[in-house]
Amino acid sequence: MQDLFSNLIPALPEQETLAEGAVLLRGEALSHERDLLSALAQITARAAFRNMVTPGGFTMSVAMTNCGPLGWVSDRSGYRYSPVDPLTGENWPTMPECFLKLAQDAAAKAGYQNFTPDACLINRYEPKNKLSLHQDKDEKSPEHPIVSVSLGLPATFQFGGLKRTDPVLKYALQHGDVVVWGGPSRLYYHGITPLKDGEHPLLGRTRINLTFRKAA
Ligand code: SIN
Ligand code: FE2
Repeated sequence: MQDLFSNLIPALPEQETLAEGAVLLRGEALSHERDLLSALAQITARAAFRNMVTPGGFTMSVAMTNCGPLGWVSDRSGYRYSPVDPLTGENWPTMPECFLKLAQDAAAKAGYQNFTPDACLINRYEPKNKLSLHQDKDEKSPEHPIVSVSLGLPATFQFGGLKRTDPVLKYALQHGDVVVWGGPSRLYYHGITPLKDGEHPLLGRTRINLTFRKAA
């Protein structure tokens, strides 16, 4: 028998091209959710989420931490990648095998073979938190893509162009979705609109985003 609602809610495609070089892989992380979340808990026990300060002196609403050989940090002196967590003086926690495999498999599906991320920035959003339009341009290997994994509450992802003023398209990102962008769209502006309140069965009132990069 046909699903009662199948003609009311059209299924979204499993893969959607956002721009040349940019693909949304819906549900790509779903089968790994338990492993990802338990690995995440181990990371944040050692490298806690914190609200970093921008070079301009603003405290970011999104809380962040990192895993892998390099971590993205921001403070009054600028943005950079560092092997050391400034809160603890220790190296960032190792990138878990399940993180690395997901990132590499997603990159390959999007057409990027041999993705070897050395940094995973972990963002935590609470209701109303947003990430303004920006480019990911602190990495020294822009031939590698960005792989971005969404967990928890849904969010609206904005994806624009090479200029801040280029028109942006909006995409709903759900728990388990993965976006990969590289090649011609590697430096496209992107952001997250203020997070809508809600309750996620595994993550409660939060959204977690993992972004994998080759920083060095
Ligand atoms: C980012 O641009 O670093 C994060 C995007 C997201 O949270 O989906
Ligand atoms: Fe970004």
